[in-house]
Amino acid sequence: MKRYKIVELLGNTGRELLGQEIIVKGWVRAFRSNRFIQLNDGSCISVIQAVIDFELFDEALLRRITTASALSLTGKLVESIGSGQALELQVSAIEILGDANPDEVQKTVMQPKRHSLEFLREQAHLRFRTNTFGAVFRIRHAVAYAIHKFFNDRGFFYLHTPIITGSDAEGAGEMFRVTNLDPKNPPLNEDGSVNFKDDFFGKQVNLTVSGQLEAELAALALGQVYTFGPTFRAENSNTSRHLAEFWMIEPEVAFNDLKDNMDLTEDFLKYICSYILENCAEDLKFLNDRDAQEQTQKPQHERNELSLIERIEFVINNPFKRLTYTEAIEVLLNSNHYKKKKFKYDVSWGIDLQSEHERYLVEKEFKCPVILTDYPAQIKAFYMRLNEDGKTVAAMDVLFPGIGEIVGGSQREERYDILHKKCEEFGIHPEELWWYMDTRKFGTVPHAGFGLGFERMVMFVTGMSNIRDVIPFPRTPQNAEF
Ligand code: 4AD
Ligand code: MG
Repeated sequence: MKRYKIVELLGNTGRELLGQEIIVKGWVRAFRSNRFIQLNDGSCISVIQAVIDFELFDEALLRRITTASALSLTGKLVESIGSGQALELQVSAIEILGDANPDEVQKTVMQPKRHSLEFLREQAHLRFRTNTFGAVFRIRHAVAYAIHKFFNDRGFFYLHTPIITGSDAEGAGEMFRVTNLDPKNPPLNEDGSVNFKDDFFGKQVNLTVSGQLEAELAALALGQVYTFGPTFRAENSNTSRHLAEFWMIEPEVAFNDLKDNMDLTEDFLKYICSYILENCAEDLKFLNDRDAQEQTQKPQHERNELSLIERIEFVINNPFKRLTYTEAIEVLLNSNHYKKKKFKYDVSWGIDLQSEHERYLVEKEFKCPVILTDYPAQIKAFYMRLNEDGKTVAAMDVLFPGIGEIVGGSQREERYDILHKKCEEFGIHPEELWWYMDTRKFGTVPHAGFGLGFERMVMFVTGMSNIRDVIPFPRTPQNAEF
């Protein structure tokens, strides 16, 4: 006899199997009246109802059927007479695959009642069993798949860039060092500093903050590539939008300028949103209701006028607002918000925009996704292309409602001399980046790319408001459990 997954039984396959004996396996969500088992197997958010004739089974066996226990059930698939489900299983055989102690279950997130997200985080190993996290992680998978599909369909090549690297692509110095030296007794130079020549790689290396520099090398030969890998940042930001370990997608395209880069980003983000709407309807419906419930708990002025599904549709159906950094500064300076001194941080040309400024632009001023371009050179990375004005660079940040910055990218500096000068201005030794500089000597061409923060995208399409709740095991300052 064949085992079927619940997602199959609730689709067309289930209709075809009516009247037949089949096997389902899963975990008990509830067992009511010694008669109705709600079984979930993770294939979808729905449960299948299994009906038991208790006279057919040993009482001791039935007592072992408790919330969270694992079962293999054999039975006939029939149309359900009760409301709430179309099909149910008339059980003829029960095998207990794994017991669960009810007293222990009481203390966990598997106890079926509303738990706080904080409590769920403490039990990240068990939270997969809840409806919310089942839905979030199925959607996380779908976002990853949509990303690969988008690029594959457009002729991009998936490139694996190194996780251990000697370079700090972003130049922010927020890196985790990788070493196998003895911390108590490292080899020293004459001046007392650590001698990294004796370290595993013969030099100082770190966990990567971005695969971009290596992706550029490949783009200048393969034309269009993208990376999709883990990145690490030792920034001490304990916010709901930062992780120390997160996943980033970085496409890089030869012959693209900033305008092409913006068009690609916009198509890409819209594609992901459409894919999720079309392919994750059941999980999305659940999260939409969850989000609506959460909104009612918030003070009036923080509530979102749009539901989760409406927010996703809004991104698909509306063009992103594009403006320069300089224009954005003007907008902020002319806002009533600024005049009434409601910003915590001051506004003037040259500042790094704070999240309150970004949120004002997206949520109050334009009420749609915004692409800001042409930032001052000194607040952006060394590799961004210098504009004609000599003081701004061809950078772009995409800002999303409720999220803030979701994408950062730029057209790259392809001119050797200017790049060399930029390195010096930023205190980067061009000799250490000889391999990067080299590409500007052998058939250099304009090229551009960007980085999408994967978890921030998953936050947007699931409506989860803390980034720790869209990655299975979050790594944040003072926290690397599991
Ligand atoms: O803006 P960032 O730092 O850009 C880069 O790393 C470029 N090399 C990308 C490129 O042009 N190829 O990071 C890109 C995105 C951000 O917009 C944000 O969505 C996400 O990565 N991100 C983080 N997500 C979670 N936790 C953090 N600590 C993040 N830092 C950046
Ligand atoms: Mg950025």
